[in-house]
Amino acid sequence: MFALRNSINLKSAKLLSRGITSLSHLPETHQMLQKTCRDFADNELVPIAKKIDKEHLFPANEIRKMGELGLMGLTMPEKYGGTGLDYLAYAIAMEEISRGCASCGVVMSVNNSLYLGPIYYNGTEEQKAEFIAPYTDGNHIGCFALSEPGNGSDAAAAQTTAKLVGDQWIINGTKNWITNGPDASAAIVFATTDKQLKHKGISAFIVPRGTPGFSYGAKEDKLGIRGSSTCSLIFEDCAIPKENILGEAGQGFKIAMKTLDDGRIGIAGQALGIAQASLECAVDYANKRMAFGNPISKMQTIQNKIADMALRVESARLLIWRAAVLKDEKKPFTKEAAMAKLAASETATFCSHQAIQILGGMGYVSDMPAERYYRDARITEIYEGTSEIQRLVIAGQIIKQMS
Ligand code: CAA
Repeated sequence: MFALRNSINLKSAKLLSRGITSLSHLPETHQMLQKTCRDFADNELVPIAKKIDKEHLFPANEIRKMGELGLMGLTMPEKYGGTGLDYLAYAIAMEEISRGCASCGVVMSVNNSLYLGPIYYNGTEEQKAEFIAPYTDGNHIGCFALSEPGNGSDAAAAQTTAKLVGDQWIINGTKNWITNGPDASAAIVFATTDKQLKHKGISAFIVPRGTPGFSYGAKEDKLGIRGSSTCSLIFEDCAIPKENILGEAGQGFKIAMKTLDDGRIGIAGQALGIAQASLECAVDYANKRMAFGNPISKMQTIQNKIADMALRVESARLLIWRAAVLKDEKKPFTKEAAMAKLAASETATFCSHQAIQILGGMGYVSDMPAERYYRDARITEIYEGTSEIQRLVIAGQIIKQMS
């Protein structure tokens, strides 16, 4: 259990706030974590990623093994069963896991950032004891229910309601596109207690699986990340104890926004892993594929593509590490997380597209992983805020800073 925690000397985890431009500049802890995750991905995830995708298999065994490694509660303190590492470590681990299997990556990201994070930052000690520790070992996962059938980007327009009746909250409504939903043992659910108040009327609640009135829609049949499970969550007079509110009433929107700032670093890491895998796949193929008497990697037209891919991958990595380091240093990072997610997700789309172009016909069939990377990349520009929303967040922050 928690092999990372045991094998890594946490005392050496001094964060370098400046000058981190490559893995060799990272603290020893982070380098060891990167190697552990890369080895795990190569040995345990790469061999099964195609099957997970093809058969829409939720990777329960792999998630359990990731829990044993300490990856499912990576940034949670040890006293709550976590591994006690920082967000830079989390970003690095997310890249390596997603390079092996992007479905495993998103299960890890949602559990760490979107589920455990808000409970850790806003929960009572009782909530932390009940809803964090059992979710760090890979046997239980959580989900985050913000989007609805009628609103995704406009998160403040929540129609799901919560009404305090005696000592219970009664929740009614439907949440859509909930990653981990079908397999989650608990959900963080955002609901409004007063629609007139718009975002100020939204509160966050913890709803355990099995609560009467809480049911699930059909599992979605998705273009990519087909091993991760997604469904809608349906609440019909679902009664939860009064104590299951997370934070103060009316604070739900801010909890959601802060949680998404963290989550965007995780998804950026996932996108980067897909981009890195696409680059490696393309270079490997280009070195082996002969045309006009030479490996195609000798052709300038292929070299240009490889250069453009590598440039975007390395730029995105630096943006992700910057956002993670700012979070770890408790400095504002909303803009930086949005930039990291925007750059990394567009990089994943670009690199997986170019990989297929370099592989030609072999890129278009499922014998090679390039077509899976292309399908997996697409969602990273949509969930946890579309690329359009990231631009809106970035511009909003820049205008505020410069006005
Ligand atoms: N941190 C803290 N507070 C924040 C914040 C942040 N990052 N962003 C906004 N706020 C605060 C504002 O300061 C403001 O506070 P006051 O009321 O005190 O003034 C309040 O929240 C409202 O802010 P805005 O007026 O900017 O809010 P808005 O309604 O215009 O929306 C938005 C802003 C950025 C577009 C937001 O709605 C948003 O991020 N939308 C995208 C939602 C999203 O990412 N959905 C993804 C679903 S989750 C998912 O995909 C999970 C999954 O399963 C993988």
